Amino acid sequence: MLFDTHCHLDVSRFPEGADAVLKRARAAGVRAVVDVGVGGNERSLAAVELARQRSDVLASVGIDPHEAGSCDSERWNLVESLAVEPEVVAIGETGLDYFYHHSPQALQRQAFARQIALARSTRKPLIIHTRQAAVDTIEILTAERAEDVGGVFHCFTADTALARAALNLGFMVSFSGILTFDSDACLAEAARFVPNDQLVVETDSPYLSPVPVRKLRPCEPAFVAHTATYLAKLRGTPFDEFCALTTANACRLFRVALDKFECE
Ligand code: NI
Repeated sequence: MLFDTHCHLDVSRFPEGADAVLKRARAAGVRAVVDVGVGGNERSLAAVELARQRSDVLASVGIDPHEAGSCDSERWNLVESLAVEPEVVAIGETGLDYFYHHSPQALQRQAFARQIALARSTRKPLIIHTRQAAVDTIEILTAERAEDVGGVFHCFTADTALARAALNLGFMVSFSGILTFDSDACLAEAARFVPNDQLVVETDSPYLSPVPVRKLRPCEPAFVAHTATYLAKLRGTPFDEFCALTTANACRLFRVALDKFECE
């Protein structure tokens, strides 16, 4: 049993609909997913609606760093009103991206701090996106006391130093398909470093299909099984044990009971 802790079930990328995609996920052993609805727009609404309809889907809402500079008050209002819904189990993805620079860094930092405050007021964990912004990310999480709610560093691509800082703040670390095709030794080292009780996996679909389905587009939640297989082997953990521990971690992270997913 696997848990895809981060996917974007955007209908524009999955024209056959979420039900078909999730049926294939279930056949691959994936029992639960978090649909990350970023934007404060129809995507955020759709994620919450899907989570209302399906017991194997949980939702997250937020404003990603790329959109931090262009988000108006209407979109913020929608994120903040959806955040209190019971189907919404996390805030994000939010954070800092100094690689793409789609938004000015100062506005990214503001939007990040605002979402940490939202996570604290709703008592929900954060989904963190950070790229080439490790120092500022840790500094803001610390200053805004994100430790009180915790969360996950999603799609982790950095080194052991950042993993250690995330773990010290009580955050989990999530690995995606990037691990299977990025030859960076530092990333592999980080993937071995994270302790068993703070480790989760994800697809970040529709992006980043893992090896050996790298050429298949879009990436979909079923493919998390490939990343799990790779990471279990890298860590020397039997596959079944790896699935059980990462799924238990995901349930603890999102504060849901495992039996919520077992009945269907
Ligand atoms: Ni994402």
